[in-house]
Amino acid sequence: MRKFLTTTAVAAIMMGGMAGASAVHAAESVEVLHWWTSGGEAAALDVLKKDLESKSISWTDMPVAGGGGTEAMTVLRARVTSGNAPTAVQMLGFDILDWAKEGALGNLDEIAAKEGWDKVIPTALQQFSKYDGHWIAAPVNVHSTNWMWINKAALDKAGGKEPANWDELVALLDNFKAQGITPVAHGGQPWQDATIFDAVVLSLGTDFYKKAFIDLDPATLGGAEMKTAFDRMTKLRSYVDDNFSGRDWNLASAMVIEGKAGVQFMGDWAKGEFVKANKVPGTDFICMRFPGTQGSVTFNSDQFAMFKVADDKVPAQLQMAAAIENPAFQSAFNVVKGSAPARTDVSDEAFDACGKKAIKDLADANTAGTLYGSMAHGHANPASVKNAIYDVVTRQFNGELTSEEAVTELAAAVEAAK
Ligand code: GAL
Repeated sequence: MRKFLTTTAVAAIMMGGMAGASAVHAAESVEVLHWWTSGGEAAALDVLKKDLESKSISWTDMPVAGGGGTEAMTVLRARVTSGNAPTAVQMLGFDILDWAKEGALGNLDEIAAKEGWDKVIPTALQQFSKYDGHWIAAPVNVHSTNWMWINKAALDKAGGKEPANWDELVALLDNFKAQGITPVAHGGQPWQDATIFDAVVLSLGTDFYKKAFIDLDPATLGGAEMKTAFDRMTKLRSYVDDNFSGRDWNLASAMVIEGKAGVQFMGDWAKGEFVKANKVPGTDFICMRFPGTQGSVTFNSDQFAMFKVADDKVPAQLQMAAAIENPAFQSAFNVVKGSAPARTDVSDEAFDACGKKAIKDLADANTAGTLYGSMAHGHANPASVKNAIYDVVTRQFNGELTSEEAVTELAAAVEAAK
């Protein structure tokens, strides 16, 4: 009896406390789950936090470290399962649609209509911001994965020429080795291996990328060209240092920033790290497309998926969505983040040379029909297929599979996952 009373009392106090807390904070607070924990990412997130604070919306931070968001998505699942969804969650591509299918997301139609999102957010992003015709997420940026970041001093020592194709890339990496630095800064985590694989596959042709990762064509996944892609991964693996396993991507960026390594193959969030370290494009580092992928772009867009929350929390959620799509915010945030704006009507004036290139490359690839969703960052396939590809790519990169075995396993794994 005593136990019963105590439990009831505790429950009553907790419920009272929660109701009281929500009455005080609900209308003007958002809880945001994200994986932006590196220096550059946190600096960009700060732009959003400050923007909301200036509108008297307080921010409850739920950071889940882990590039690419794998860990964040696991934590999110646990939160939602326990009936405690955050207000807004950083999310990529097909994951957004999966949550929408489950009926977990809110509805942003009113604000989207009022602010004319349909006209300014590109269709390539809208396909992930809308489900069943309704707006469910607010895109904050457009990143792309087929970039390479080169230490300028090391490149100058190697003759200063940016590699235009695979053979020139290999020659440059050999030169870096001869200089006594690590040719390729890399962190051995499945999503990072997959990020390189995005670029390597794209460098073998846009049709090849499309057939492999968008169409999931079994003959392409299991064909001779895919063996070439894996052979190239093996070659790149020979240029990483001994301590690469498990290293975070931003620590790999730091190796290039500090001149300990020559190059990193990484999405343009890496630029956020260079900028944070006060490095200047063209002077301290070079940004270029992975050799052989000039003219094509594999993109991913960070969006804030808005979860179904209690009615009294909806106004702050809608204000957050509106703040994200504000053109001035889009410029300020993306300048720091390394990405391009998620709206087509934002001037590139405030962006550095790499940012201007990112914006132009996206527009050009869109016009040319060479803009594709990134496999590595959830914009080509749902998580089940993406994870199946990750698994094979990582095992092959770590020498557990030969190229031949990887090709066979890739086709089979994708077939089983689709
Ligand atoms: C990507 C995301 C970027 C960046 C990166 C590394 O998936 O789109 O914004 O955060 O992961 O964490």
